Amino acid sequence: ETTLRAAAAKAGLFFGVAASPGRLSSIVGQEFNQLTPENDMKPSTIATSSGGLQNTGNADTLVNHAQTNSMLVRGHTMVWHSQAGALQGASQATLNTFIGNALTRWGNKVAYWDVVNEALDDNNTGNRRTQWPHSLNRDANGDGDLFDATDTDVIRDSFTRAKQVVQANGLTTKLCINDYDVEGLTVRGGTANRKANALYDIVRNYRQLIDCVGFQAHFNDNPNSIISDDLQANIQRFADLGVEVHLTELDIDDDLSNNDIGQGQADNYRKVVRACLNVAKCTGITVWGIADSESWRASERGLLFTGSSGNYQKKAAYTAVLDEL
Ligand code: XIL
Repeated sequence: ETTLRAAAAKAGLFFGVAASPGRLSSIVGQEFNQLTPENDMKPSTIATSSGGLQNTGNADTLVNHAQTNSMLVRGHTMVWHSQAGALQGASQATLNTFIGNALTRWGNKVAYWDVVNEALDDNNTGNRRTQWPHSLNRDANGDGDLFDATDTDVIRDSFTRAKQVVQANGLTTKLCINDYDVEGLTVRGGTANRKANALYDIVRNYRQLIDCVGFQAHFNDNPNSIISDDLQANIQRFADLGVEVHLTELDIDDDLSNNDIGQGQADNYRKVVRACLNVAKCTGITVWGIADSESWRASERGLLFTGSSGNYQKKAAYTAVLDEL
């Protein structure tokens, strides 16, 4: 095969990209068969303070482009502490209104939705994040988890609402939870990845509600970010819960490979793709942009192309991914 999407399709998975309307050049539909709006479906863009929708034009443009090019869409994202816009500090009732509106606005044109994003604390504590929407979490019996019927849990309640909407409207949209630094069973130094373990507990407890788990896969030199041999084992244990697993925002810092003109980075890409390929329920990989110059972390040169729109050039990492698929 000569494109990422064709090679991935043959291997039984999708290969996607994050995009904005300004980046919709022909390469998007040629190379990728899944599209995630990089910013245009976030509450900061589309939510009103009462949970209604506004400014959906960019999202529509992206969804239409995806349909025209036979690409799946991942909706990103509903319940998140960052880029929350008018939903900052919202009640669960308002979040539920937004969840219903967002799901029904695009219906089955969105194959996967990140209902909850980045719910877990940084610093590998395994706790829920202290920022919003933590205020919606209440450990009623003080046993250290939010899984009891008497507890209030924004994750459970948001997925419960989303599932109701999916069922009531006969949708096939799959409902995902997404996070970062959850990729390895261990973190750098070899100790347990408590953040991954906490995510695992959430998915295990709510597996009737959650269809898919996204590992963002922003690999960098953060101590909790690691491309290790146990990536595959971690993907596997989530898959064994019955959910699909996706690598949703993949980029790999070139620095991780000591600036060796990209060969180390290419090898890292190979490892990551292989780990997903080896697990049947790892059904898709999405890179977080086309070219390094357009990346949210441009200085780290973490993507598959150099150059810019109209003049993209394939890196060693691109060739490695294509070959590995
Ligand atoms: C980033 C976008 O790439 C940037 O353009 C924006 O300024 C900030 O958000 N985790 C996520 C993504 O879930 O939504 C973030 O995207 C990157 C980290």
